Amino acid sequence: MMTDPTRREFLARVSTLGVLLYQPRLDHPQEQLPTRTIPGTGETLPVIGLGSSKPVMQIPTAGTDPLAAVMRMLLEYGGRVVDTAPRSEAVDAEFGVLLQQPDWHNKFFLATKINTTGRQSGVDQMRQAQRLFGRRTMDLIQVQSLLDLDTHWPNLREWKETGEARYIGVTVSSYDRYERLEAFMRSEPLDFVHLNYSVMETRAEERLLPLAADRGMAVIVNRPFMNGSYFGMVSDKRLPAWAAEFDCTTWAQFSLKYILAHPAVTCVLTETTNPAHMEENIQAGFGRLPDEATKRRMREAVA
Ligand SMILES: NC(=O)c1ccc[n+]([C@@H]2O[C@H](COP(=O)([O-])OP(=O)(O)OC[C@H]3O[C@@H](n4cnc5c(N)ncnc54)[C@H](OP(=O)(O)O)[C@@H]3O)[C@@H](O)[C@H]2O)c1
Repeated sequence: MMTDPTRREFLARVSTLGVLLYQPRLDHPQEQLPTRTIPGTGETLPVIGLGSSKPVMQIPTAGTDPLAAVMRMLLEYGGRVVDTAPRSEAVDAEFGVLLQQPDWHNKFFLATKINTTGRQSGVDQMRQAQRLFGRRTMDLIQVQSLLDLDTHWPNLREWKETGEARYIGVTVSSYDRYERLEAFMRSEPLDFVHLNYSVMETRAEERLLPLAADRGMAVIVNRPFMNGSYFGMVSDKRLPAWAAEFDCTTWAQFSLKYILAHPAVTCVLTETTNPAHMEENIQAGFGRLPDEATKRRMREAVA
């Protein structure tokens, strides 16, 4: 006897259908994303990465298909950077199964976080990530939002020494952490800083981005779309015709190209559950970038 599908089964079927219907243009090999060098190393990273929070948090309701689809799209264009943060054990276990599928072995540059208080809780989060993601070595471990930073930082330094972290760094996603971040960047040799920056949130240009360049720190950018609210803010505006001068065809690319035009930026994360959005965002990595005069016009256009 047929029974009604549960909500989760229904969403999984719909998302599987969406994934099946949505195919990248595979009639020719995809152009590979440009890369930028992690300062002080010979290693490069593709300029567009995936912020995985939304698709990972949707695993309990939508399964892993949407996440797999955006990760596959990223790989299609030579993308590698996937940023994540500790979730419940059940959710991260499913994410870990995806990360460990055989043809994805060593394909992703995985940036994880410590987002708890207390020394032992931080160590536990690291051990859980190692176990569930099937890796002894994380590419990058970050203290999220500087939370209990003084407690966790010595652990991160130790993990780098023992080879459990290739790079270490910290994140912020709001202006109220900027002062503390700046002080920390001046006192510690961070490999990476991860901060909010976009055509509407430009304050990192004032001090933090120049400081990162001076101190030889790689920069990962979050909130290119202010967690999606950017799209509501530009919905009644027409994309300026002069956006074509820097090979920009959508509002999403408008913010991403603004970010990538800053020479201190190594990689910008875009969070999405939709492979078509992932591909649109990846396209921002190609073609021309705006110069300083154009960036001023861009700020005015969204003000
Ligand atoms: N303190 C921290 O460490 C911190 C804080 C915030 C964020 N982060 C990191 O940064 C990542 C990005 O998060 P965010 O807050 O900065 O999100 P964001 O990328 O600014 O915005 C994500 C939202 O934009 C939508 N979107 C993406 N591409 C689109 C497109 N081309 N057209 C229309 N809508 C589009 C997505 O919806 P769809 O699913 O429909 O595409 C999603 O709702 C996070 O996943 C996380 O890795 C870190």
